[in-house]
Amino acid sequence: MKALQLEKPQQFRFIETPEPAAPGAGEALVRVQRVGICGTDYSGFLGKMPFFSYPRIPGHELGVEVMAIGPSVTEVQPGDRCAVEPYLNCGQCFPCRKGAPNCCEKLKVLGVMMDGGLTERMVLPARKLHPAHRLSPEQCALVETLAIGCHAVNRGNPGAGETVLVIGAGPIGLSVIEFAKLSGAKTIVLDLNEQRLAFVRSKMGVPDTICAQGDGAALERLKQMTGGTLAQVVVDATGSNQSMANAMTYCGFTGRLVYVGITPAEVAFPHAPVMHRRELTLLASRNALPSDFTRIIQLIESGRIDTRPWITHHAAFGELIEKFSTFTQPETGVIKAIVDME
Ligand SMILES: NC(=O)c1ccc[n+]([C@@H]2O[C@H](COP(=O)([O-])OP(=O)(O)OC[C@H]3O[C@@H](n4cnc5c(N)ncnc54)[C@H](O)[C@@H]3O)[C@@H](O)[C@H]2O)c1
Ligand SMILES: [Zn+2]
Ligand SMILES: [Zn+2]
Repeated sequence: MKALQLEKPQQFRFIETPEPAAPGAGEALVRVQRVGICGTDYSGFLGKMPFFSYPRIPGHELGVEVMAIGPSVTEVQPGDRCAVEPYLNCGQCFPCRKGAPNCCEKLKVLGVMMDGGLTERMVLPARKLHPAHRLSPEQCALVETLAIGCHAVNRGNPGAGETVLVIGAGPIGLSVIEFAKLSGAKTIVLDLNEQRLAFVRSKMGVPDTICAQGDGAALERLKQMTGGTLAQVVVDATGSNQSMANAMTYCGFTGRLVYVGITPAEVAFPHAPVMHRRELTLLASRNALPSDFTRIIQLIESGRIDTRPWITHHAAFGELIEKFSTFTQPETGVIKAIVDME
């Protein structure tokens, strides 16, 4: 069986791997049909992802078909097309017991801390498979990216009549935008990159965008757009600690700031004049919950999320090494690149 391995940073190679063993209790053997590529894979490629270890078979955004099931599996049947929740949690620790498997103390993410889906077939826990009969395989592979935005918006919990400011219009910011729109809140998007904002206006149906120049004018623009109240929910999806520090100034009184972007650097912000005075709430957002996957599958099935603008690039499995570097560069217009495994 063929798999694509990141042998060490900057070095991919195709390898031959043994067929997976027959699925055990609670497991399913799946055929990988589509794999989405994202910034996490690219950071792993560059050697800049702290949780990544090598050698590693990447791939955590998966569309699969069930080939066989082990004893006592009730969640799926052979032939089921599924999205995969790639967060393998222990089920025993405090966050797992309190219903937060997304931040299990022993969490292993497929394709990051353990081998993932850039392989022909694999065995997965059946409870991590979310059947999606009416989705295409590539739509199944998109569900995980959308789940990141879904969870971030749930953390901020905007209501109709409120304003959500999304900072950063990369793939994660776009997934946040999908759920900000569905919340009924007014959505405003801020980025430094006008090309990405043009995509937001023309393809995501969000007319209100702000192109920040780093001169403070963005805050004035947001005040104008919100009648002076600023945003009740701000979601920072940049991964920039400078943006994350500044994001608080866009929150109105009693607002919520959600960090869905990730930085290894320190984030410093003014406490008394901004956070305290406005009585703000600061929230992290890590991965997503199983219920987010179920909801997203239904939203795509019912047409409330249109996946057509999302998938901009494709590669056959065999041509991934040569195409990989273009799959995460905004200059190529890439939103989501999908690997066709068959
Ligand atoms: N919370 C999670 O579980 C989770 C999961 C996946 C990815 N992430 C993180 O989400 C972040 C975004 O991922 P992505 O793939 O969309 O990245 P990306 O680099 O494609 O997009 C980031 C966007 O932010 C914009 N930006 C950067 N600095 C800015 C600033 N100061 N002001 C305004 N805009 C600015 C960039 O122009 C770009 O469009 C990353 O940090 C990534 O690690 C988090
Ligand atoms: Zn991803
Ligand atoms: Zn756990």
